[in-house]
Amino acid sequence: MPPLKNDRFIRALLRQPVDKTPIWIMRQAGRYLPEYRATRQKAGDFLTLCKTPELACEVTMQPLDRFELDAAILFSDILTIPDAMGLGLEFKEGDGPTFSRPVKNRRDINQLAVPDPGGELRYVTDAVSLIRRELDGRVPLIGFSGSPWTLATYMVEGGTSKDFSKVKGMLYDSPSDMQKLLDILSDSVAFYLNAQIEAGAQAVMIFDTWGGALTPEDYRRFSLGSMTRIVEKLHRSYDGNTIPVTLFSKGANHSLADLANSGANGVGLDWTVNIGDARRIVSDKVALQGNLDPAILYSSHDSVKQHAKKVMDDYGHNTGHIFNLGHGIHPAIEPEKVKTLVDYVHEYSASRNLK
Ligand code: CP3
Repeated sequence: MPPLKNDRFIRALLRQPVDKTPIWIMRQAGRYLPEYRATRQKAGDFLTLCKTPELACEVTMQPLDRFELDAAILFSDILTIPDAMGLGLEFKEGDGPTFSRPVKNRRDINQLAVPDPGGELRYVTDAVSLIRRELDGRVPLIGFSGSPWTLATYMVEGGTSKDFSKVKGMLYDSPSDMQKLLDILSDSVAFYLNAQIEAGAQAVMIFDTWGGALTPEDYRRFSLGSMTRIVEKLHRSYDGNTIPVTLFSKGANHSLADLANSGANGVGLDWTVNIGDARRIVSDKVALQGNLDPAILYSSHDSVKQHAKKVMDDYGHNTGHIFNLGHGIHPAIEPEKVKTLVDYVHEYSASRNLK
């Protein structure tokens, strides 16, 4: 494999000096891009797109062809693991994901098995290998998974939830069942991410979208606890290269100090915390990724630049910052706004001293 031509994303995660602040965008391949919508139409539906490595590779590359992004992220979904467990995943148009066979009780949990990344999930590692070849060292490739807690919310609720009544019912009524479910998911995620690393992922990230639905105590026990055990099991270097790990829990700013001690290299921030305050709390034990409010991209090009400057100024000088949004980009955003953001982050940060 060729050496990386642009490694500032990896360097920033390892808190090594960089020439500019690296930037990538959560959900950078997606519906805001007309070329994505065209490829999805060609695939027929979203899951087929994820399960066809050539098409997953094609959409992974699309945002990189438009913008000077510093990382690629595998095009896939966090729900591939429960899908491979046989829960009957469907993405209904405009409706979000649903499972026809959700996890209801202890018996259902006992029937779950850790999916084989070389079996049911082979399409994911095939996509990773293909994307690495296609990237040819341009930028690093990020592999990812959902966190055990976030996956459990979808598996128990049977889809997206507003109140988490079923999954919290299980957590409060039978914490040992919940722990058992999280343990199976932790093993599955560790196995899955290591397979992505072996196939060529150069960094990995765990998305914990619903960590913030828990109390701080339950977050630390059930969500951060299982992510920490995954971090301990991951390949931290592969093929002679360090593999940085990023944890992103949305709505868990109450636990930044604990996230900094999780063993991860980077922590993703949502937009509800000042990144300078977050940096003081983690006291530079980890790199920080984030945290522009995704809705800023609805405002003018000048406003996008002003708010991006503020995030960089709030972080302060030094390396250890990966610019991103505080959550995924919305489908209604004009691609030109993303170009303004990416170019501005590079231009402004180049004039600073990022040692
Ligand atoms: O960041 C990237 O560009 C990589 C691709 C990626 C997708 N999903 C593609 C996708 C990643 C990293 C994800 C992660 C994901 N999936 C999360 C965690 C991150 C987050 O946003 O909080 C979650 C919770 C999911 C589950 C999921 N997938 C939901 C709830 C939905 C429906 C909501 C929606 O936005 O439509 C999806 C579908 C999905 N995943 C789309 C994309 C591009 C839209 C599908 C389409 O084309 O209609």
